[in-house]
Amino acid sequence: MGLREDGPSVAVVGVTGAVGQEFLRVFSDRDFPYRNIRLLASRRSTGKRLTFEDRENPEAMAHIKLQGRSGKGALIANPNCSTIVCLMAATPLHRHAKVVRMVVSTYQAASGAGTAVMEEPMQQTHEVFFFNASKSHFVQYALNLFSHNAAVFSNGYNEEEMKLVKETRKFWNDMDVKVTATCIRVPVMHAHAENVNLQIEKPLGEDTARRILEGAAGVVVVDDRESNHFPTPLDVSNKDDVAVGRIHQDLSQDGNLGFTKIEYHVLIKLDIFVCGDQIRKGAARKAIQIAENLS
Ligand SMILES: NC(=O)c1ccc[n+]([C@@H]2O[C@H](COP(=O)([O-])OP(=O)(O)OC[C@H]3O[C@@H](n4cnc5c(N)ncnc54)[C@H](OP(=O)(O)O)[C@@H]3O)[C@@H](O)[C@H]2O)c1
Repeated sequence: MGLREDGPSVAVVGVTGAVGQEFLRVFSDRDFPYRNIRLLASRRSTGKRLTFEDRENPEAMAHIKLQGRSGKGALIANPNCSTIVCLMAATPLHRHAKVVRMVVSTYQAASGAGTAVMEEPMQQTHEVFFFNASKSHFVQYALNLFSHNAAVFSNGYNEEEMKLVKETRKFWNDMDVKVTATCIRVPVMHAHAENVNLQIEKPLGEDTARRILEGAAGVVVVDDRESNHFPTPLDVSNKDDVAVGRIHQDLSQDGNLGFTKIEYHVLIKLDIFVCGDQIRKGAARKAIQIAENLS
């Protein structure tokens, strides 16, 4: 499939990068229809050959017909990857009980900073063990964690944290929702993990919350207290769905008396722990999903 006369013309800008490569995999996985496809990168990649649908460029692009200026185009702006992972789980709860405040703490993978940094946790662990030294784009990844590498603003938040604030408001079309975030890079190769504390306007028991999440599209619940099994970045790597677990009331909130699994008890604060593949679900798959909905 793939090539189809009635499909859209597609350009993947940054195709040699972490997200661009995932785009090509998702195009094939989804049998996304396209009339022609343009694969673009910087001058640094001049002469580089890529494989797409078992063919190498330029032969995979031999069928390309450039669309004229009259053709319709769609520029799809994807939400930020940490925000997508967070809101995949928070949004079904918000729709049910209205979130009025959200506190997000992230544990973000190295691949979120692109191909140049993707391998650092593994390489550095080797270097630190064998040579007692390592080179790093940011701060040492191996056996360490650090505040997200995005630019820090004068208000003390970094750009990634402010994306969570602004894009949640935009996504929920609610300029009043209060959001604060702390974004941390951890020595994980793939997939972001996030703890999300939700203050909810309407009563919502944790069992109801679990049922809502179990019925939510694109979400799997992994919440086994007995065996201490909850979502991990490894489990969600290369998966479309976001995993959510550790669904429980926040005992610090006035009015939460420490009861668990008591449905009639009114909860006004809830904790959830979410993991999602930020390259696949947080970028390529999400953009293609938007394109599929448009076509
Ligand atoms: N990585 C993630 O988890 C993630 C998730 C969501 C969103 N994003 C966003 O997705 C975008 C790409 O991220 P990435 O992780 O894929 O980065 P990356 O691995 O560093 O790749 C960057 C890509 O952009 C290309 N590029 C750079 N400068 C260019 C120019 N002047 N003209 C044309 N192409 C140029 C590079 O081409 P060369 O190879 O030729 O240099 C490469 O293909 C960023 O905006 C990032 O914030 C990333």
